[in-house]
Amino acid sequence: METSSDLAVRLTRASRRMQWDVYNAITWPDQLVEGAWWMPPELVSIYGTSAWDALDETQRKSLSKYELGNFFSLVLQGERPLVAGLSDRLYARSNDKNITQYLHHFLDEENKHMVMFGEFCHRYIGKVYPEKKISLPREYAKGEEEVAFFCKVMVVEELGDYYNTTIEKDERIEPMVREVNRIHHVDEARHLAFGRQHLAEVFEQHRAKWSDEQLTGFRQWLVDYLKASWGDYYNPTMYRDAGLDDGYELRQLAMTHPACAAQRQRASAKLVSYFIKTGLLAEEPAL
Ligand SMILES: [Fe+2]
Ligand SMILES: [Fe+2]
Repeated sequence: METSSDLAVRLTRASRRMQWDVYNAITWPDQLVEGAWWMPPELVSIYGTSAWDALDETQRKSLSKYELGNFFSLVLQGERPLVAGLSDRLYARSNDKNITQYLHHFLDEENKHMVMFGEFCHRYIGKVYPEKKISLPREYAKGEEEVAFFCKVMVVEELGDYYNTTIEKDERIEPMVREVNRIHHVDEARHLAFGRQHLAEVFEQHRAKWSDEQLTGFRQWLVDYLKASWGDYYNPTMYRDAGLDDGYELRQLAMTHPACAAQRQRASAKLVSYFIKTGLLAEEPAL
């Protein structure tokens, strides 16, 4: 079977072949096409609720713009600790030369993504939304921090990729918005392939040394982390920027409404099935 080290060799080759320059590859128009959707309506956080039904077309499109800005911002904010963590792992004793070589590309590509998302958000939204997630200090069992790091990578990348691929295919979406999603997906397909294989190996290697209690605790942390990540999609400031003044109520609505829960379940299906297949989770969590 192909190991993550073997896979890293192939992915390094692909990254070199497909190398791109973030400063010259993209021509940013002064203005984006008026009246287009930025986030597909079905992916807007309050779609399917009475609050959505109450909005007219202009309000819905305005919300779809800020939802997209929030989405790009939260991917960017997830890439910051990802780059830091990858950098910490370069030339680590536990990683062979092939993996370190690929991590250089992974890190380089994530840095470019942050430049791209940052540029888009500054130009067309006027800001990058700040990070909201609070990281609680906790004690780790041996190897747990390593497994947790690659789980966080999978969460930001798999959820992000669900949005990227859905938006990229949607003809109702503003062309530049589609293009940025497409560019991101091309690099992410390699990161996801590596992450899936590498995390499975890292988990396999460490879980044998964990007690049942530690494994249960870890799974609980993972479910909580996944839920917190979904919370980031329901940003009160984003609702306010779209001209809706009850931002906290809308966040609450999105977190509790069955239509929104069904959407979370759909968007997380691939990720959750990976976690179950590898044993990182024992069962499908209620999201
Ligand atoms: Fe990325
Ligand atoms: Fe990535």
